Amino acid sequence: MLTGYEHLLRAADRLRWDEADIDLRGDTRAWAALDEVRRAPLRRLMAGFLVAEEAVAAALHPFVAAAGDPVVRACFAAQQADEERHARFFARVADEVVGVHPHDAPRAVRDLFTRRLPDTAMALARGDATLADGVALYHLILEGVVFAAGQEALVQALGDTDLDGVRAGAARVQADERWHVGLGVRCLQDAGLAVEQLEALLARGECAARAWGLRGVDAERAAQVHRRRVALCQTGRAVSR
Ligand SMILES: [Fe+2]
Ligand SMILES: [Fe+2]
Repeated sequence: MLTGYEHLLRAADRLRWDEADIDLRGDTRAWAALDEVRRAPLRRLMAGFLVAEEAVAAALHPFVAAAGDPVVRACFAAQQADEERHARFFARVADEVVGVHPHDAPRAVRDLFTRRLPDTAMALARGDATLADGVALYHLILEGVVFAAGQEALVQALGDTDLDGVRAGAARVQADERWHVGLGVRCLQDAGLAVEQLEALLARGECAARAWGLRGVDAERAAQVHRRRVALCQTGRAVSR
């Protein structure tokens, strides 16, 4: 039963990286040379990740505490280390390259990560929400839909720029987020959600896919992947993103 979790822990070990190793000096020069049309969507995406990664890093304690099994707990703890690294990486990018602030993030993204997520994490800590409730929002909606859609847009937007350090870090973050979403699906498979919970999860995913509100963020594709993932939560088949 725990095989899936052990596999995820091995993935976490294999993927570990250090944001301090990424050299952003060339990126600072490349950003200065980039025209404003290219900078504007990148700025919104980076500001979104600046806010969101800090929020998810701060919200994981109740998940670690609520996990009954030590291997599952170890997965959430490994994820927390990843999120703290992601938050440090985007803080460096904001500070050293792009010069953005949290208020530059799209309002719907800020609302999801700085209001909805802490509210749910606090409810979990109080015992007023289940671990499955928390995972459904955190791993399936915020990471599986909002992060995934934003990361694909970010990687695309960086594609032909000379922002090599940012691109390298974003690719690392994207790889980490895949196992985090896999962890969420695995938890929800174990929780065995009722049909109405799955339907609510589908509806929230459709709405969250539009949170960025930016051209270049493919909300329809994010919603489509989410629908497939929710079906996996129901059937218990292998997880992929
Ligand atoms: Fe993250
Ligand atoms: Fe994550």
